[in-house]
Amino acid sequence: MISVEKGYVDMPIEKGIDIKNEILRMKKEKNAVILAHYYQRNEIQDIADYIGDSLALAQIAARVDADIIVMCGVHFMGETAKILCPFKKVIVPDMNGGCSLADSCPADKFADYVNLHPGYTVISYVNTSAAVKAYTDIVVTSSNAKEIVESLPENEKIIFGPDRNLGNYINGVTGRNMLLWDGACDVHEKFSLEKVLALKKENNNAKILVHPECKKPLQLIADKVGSTQALLNFAVNDECNTFIVATESGILHEMQKRCPEKKFIPAPPEDGTCSCNECAYMKLITLEKLYNSLKYELPEISVDKEIADKAVLSINRMLDISKNLGIIK
Ligand code: 13P
Ligand code: SF4
Repeated sequence: MISVEKGYVDMPIEKGIDIKNEILRMKKEKNAVILAHYYQRNEIQDIADYIGDSLALAQIAARVDADIIVMCGVHFMGETAKILCPFKKVIVPDMNGGCSLADSCPADKFADYVNLHPGYTVISYVNTSAAVKAYTDIVVTSSNAKEIVESLPENEKIIFGPDRNLGNYINGVTGRNMLLWDGACDVHEKFSLEKVLALKKENNNAKILVHPECKKPLQLIADKVGSTQALLNFAVNDECNTFIVATESGILHEMQKRCPEKKFIPAPPEDGTCSCNECAYMKLITLEKLYNSLKYELPEISVDKEIADKAVLSINRMLDISKNLGIIK
């Protein structure tokens, strides 16, 4: 019996093997697909079949033709994939990959809040547990939140959770007055406004790219506020050749790959001497853990059926509305 007590398969890897080749071989043999979020380590992004933001990963998981989905992301991303594909095996190579934003919204407290506000439509960010999604009418990601909110009647009463910065941003750009859950992402909240302004002074022509999970003062100095995918698209398509990027620094890998001639400067966090800001949860997955997870097909995600049956409705509503609005194909 292989133990996953540590949250991942902790087995020694045979000496002398080529891990990357073995991952590719097992993937083929087992009809598995590897999905990776843009915040994963570079080598994980490079070996994945698909990389994307939260919306893209959910969409790919929903339609992919494979027996095994290896989700290189954090726990809620594995749960979302499992909810959408209950009959597929969904593996997350390190189950310790939590999310401070999802943790800021415990399901029981969220349910109390929802029950206190009858008649409200509940919109939740995808960065939530399956149990929170089960109390939700429509799931959103940062790539579609604005459009989905705008698609609802103007007088619709809405609860938006859990990210207060994204919620405030959507309220601002749509003129809505949604009730906001008071949660946040530790990584996106800790970018330093002062350090970003100092970088801008040094790089006068640079444009500032900011994820809406960041605090408002940073959003206010941004040339572009958008989801990870939207920031990537902006960097690729804009004529500017230097960008200061205020989102998890893993995205710089794809930005640099797509635009080798441009310069990308990671925005630093407030604390410490680090020049970039990483999500420790996202960086837990290594090639070794990915190799062992494929070999032993562990650790596997499971979601309580009653919760999954409710959560799938709110996730599918997001996918359906996004298709109708032309945000995804
Ligand atoms: P997106 O992938 O929707 O940009 O979300 C950012 C994030 O923090 C994912 O955990
Ligand atoms: Fe969660 Fe923030 Fe890490 Fe994304 S970056 S997984 S929101 S803690």
